[in-house]
Amino acid sequence: MIPFLQLVSLFLTTMRILSGIQPSGTLHLGNYFGMMKPAIEWQDRGEALYFIADLHALTTVQDAAELRSNVRDVAVDFLACGLDPAKACFFQQSQVPAITELAWILSTLTPMGLLERCHSYKDKLAKGLAPTHGLFAYPVLMAADILIYDSDVVPVGKDQKQHIEVARDLVLKFNDTFGDTLKLPEPSIPDHTAVVPGLDGEKMSKSYRNTIGMFEEEKSLRKKIMSLKTDSSPMEAPKPVENSTLLDLYKLVASPSDHSQMVAEFLAGGIGYGDFKKRLFGAIWEYFGPMRTRREEILAHPDLVDTVLREGREKANGIADGVMARVRTAVGL
Ligand code: ADP
Ligand code: TRP
Repeated sequence: MIPFLQLVSLFLTTMRILSGIQPSGTLHLGNYFGMMKPAIEWQDRGEALYFIADLHALTTVQDAAELRSNVRDVAVDFLACGLDPAKACFFQQSQVPAITELAWILSTLTPMGLLERCHSYKDKLAKGLAPTHGLFAYPVLMAADILIYDSDVVPVGKDQKQHIEVARDLVLKFNDTFGDTLKLPEPSIPDHTAVVPGLDGEKMSKSYRNTIGMFEEEKSLRKKIMSLKTDSSPMEAPKPVENSTLLDLYKLVASPSDHSQMVAEFLAGGIGYGDFKKRLFGAIWEYFGPMRTRREEILAHPDLVDTVLREGREKANGIADGVMARVRTAVGL
């Protein structure tokens, strides 16, 4: 959370908002509610810069055709979800060369212990990824992403919080060593949807194969929702409302009154999980309906995506080059 006074002072100047998403697979409800929706809401509150983190994705996607197609899919999906290029600058990370230059400079100040403490590195190794330098240095590149634009606020899901802390540590270290040069960013993490559960009740994540895609085909979406893990309460029995994946997901996509009604029906008993699942399916399908329509429109005009990303690239480089010039002077390059 951003401290109140800082928030007030941020509003008095134009706030710069920055976030990125990796093109490493099909986007799911966790990505949408954890990062994309908040980022889209932020685009009305300042100067937003959102990018597709293709350099980061190289740590896991090592197939050129797959990476290119993932980048395209993320661009289309983010635009379909409401990223408005008239309000937010949207671009590809690899199109801003200053990022990798800043990442190197930051790496010369980064204590090994800081990176060794990062959960996401350890989690990725635990999931079977090879321990490469790229994976280890991932937070340094992410710090460069943020600091190269003098970003004020970084809307991300809860699992990225530690990475923002690394970026903040590096600002303090850099400014202490070379004088006041880099701006201290603040994370913005949605409280209400800290972690979106997947079909098995664990955190929804493509590496756990428990995701619900935003733009799944109707048949496959229905099948997935009907397979959602529930307890074995019989139809007539009241159902537990705490830690119910079904209710947690429904809350994200239904109106508050529909959600309250489902809670009351859980408590009353008499309705089976099958009925609730059908309702959840309907609510998800309806929630993403307007975005599905917009997505079809975008897919019918492929040039639109190229134009948006080209214009975004120009603007992003303009800002990044200015900050990079400051950094080069500060360090003596
Ligand atoms: P995945 O876990 O599927 O690989 P990513 O790590 O690519 O997802 O996440 C991209 C963004 O979406 C991050 O900002 C992350 O915090 C957010 N995010 C991913 N999964 C969830 C979830 N289950 N709940 C909330 N936010 C999520
Ligand atoms: N690491 C983020 C993720 O996996 C993506 C990312 C890369 C990012 N650079 C960033 C997010 C800078 C915010 C700011 O979701």
